[in-house]
Amino acid sequence: MTFLTARDRDRSGIAALLPGAEATAPPLLALDNFSVAFPGAHGPVPVVRGIDLTLAPGEALGIVGESGCGKSVTWLAALRLLGRGVATSGEVLLRGQDITLLPERALASIRGGRIGLIFQDPTSSLNPVQRIGTQLTEVLRLHRGLRGDEAQREALRLLDRVGIADAPRRLRQYPHEFSGGMNQRVMIALALAGEPEVLIADEPTTALDATIQAQILDLIRDIRRESGMGLVLISHDIGVVADLCDRVAVMYAGRVVETAATQDLLGRPRHPYTRGLLAALPTLGGPRQRLTPIAGTVPAPDRMPPGCAFAPRCSLAIEDCRSETPPLVLAAQDQRAACLRLAETAMAPAAHDPAPAGAFA
Ligand SMILES: Nc1ncnc2c1ncn2[C@@H]1O[C@H](COP(=O)(O)OP(=O)(O)OP(=O)(O)O)[C@@H](O)[C@H]1O
Ligand SMILES: [Mg+2]
Repeated sequence: MTFLTARDRDRSGIAALLPGAEATAPPLLALDNFSVAFPGAHGPVPVVRGIDLTLAPGEALGIVGESGCGKSVTWLAALRLLGRGVATSGEVLLRGQDITLLPERALASIRGGRIGLIFQDPTSSLNPVQRIGTQLTEVLRLHRGLRGDEAQREALRLLDRVGIADAPRRLRQYPHEFSGGMNQRVMIALALAGEPEVLIADEPTTALDATIQAQILDLIRDIRRESGMGLVLISHDIGVVADLCDRVAVMYAGRVVETAATQDLLGRPRHPYTRGLLAALPTLGGPRQRLTPIAGTVPAPDRMPPGCAFAPRCSLAIEDCRSETPPLVLAAQDQRAACLRLAETAMAPAAHDPAPAGAFA
């Protein structure tokens, strides 16, 4: 007779005990009905509102959406990096284990260990008064138990891997002696030092000029190919995400409004918001009839309209859209969208959506 301990009962444990575990293996990373609220003057303000996302082993998932949609807050909160006043609910499952239940010490060893993190601004994540080598060997000690010569050799290898020449000299330098692109490479080396199963990269190239941006994206792509790690790539730039990701989730006002394989999302976007984002993109999908950002702005979390939060900006919105919150439903095979007007968006290519009122004013 087999007794299941509490640890065994998490989803990965059960999967491992059952015959045919392969078939039931949990995703690498999943958010299950995950919500985040910040404290406000009149009570908690929901910012992320019931997100479901899964990342299969080795998969690259892009998260896109305009500024303020909750892309960063989702993942910062999932890894408990937002401080104490922030309320979260739902599950964050790493290979089936809900990491929101872990004590801080255990979660700290997952951050930078099994889950690597890269943020937009390396200067906020690199310690300005510590040599690059010290920062790297510290991560190697913490997450892989490497010390002395062994840690030094691995630090050299990592710098070399991220394309930093003259690594022995570079290890002795401080972040301010590096360019922005070089510091971003160091950030990638730091994120890789723990040999993560999944890398979460939040706008890793936004602060960089176009050439350096392309080099950093190539680097992330190559490393992924070599290591097979999963990737969550957060960007407001669909072009960047399309280049690197197998699947894309589009966020609007704290929700996922559409998710699909990248090619499907680009080829036949179904949510009017996704269609608006693509119509505003000059470089994808050939000639466009109009190149205009979507009129209006993302509503502030404490001023969320009832119903579909995109309705006030949507040219296809009808009365029901202003009162009913559309669920994320299957719109096509492996494509989900949260919109009451899916029948309409199935008919016409995105470029033929009427322009929202005031778009050409
Ligand atoms: N510490 C905080 N306290 C209160 N509200 C916050 C806090 N941090 C973020 N927010 C709000 O949460 C919402 C989502 O912010 P988030 O940073 O996740 O947006 P984003 O999609 O990452 O945007 P960007 O593309 O600009 O990075 C925004 O309305 C933002 O103002
Ligand atoms: Mg952000």
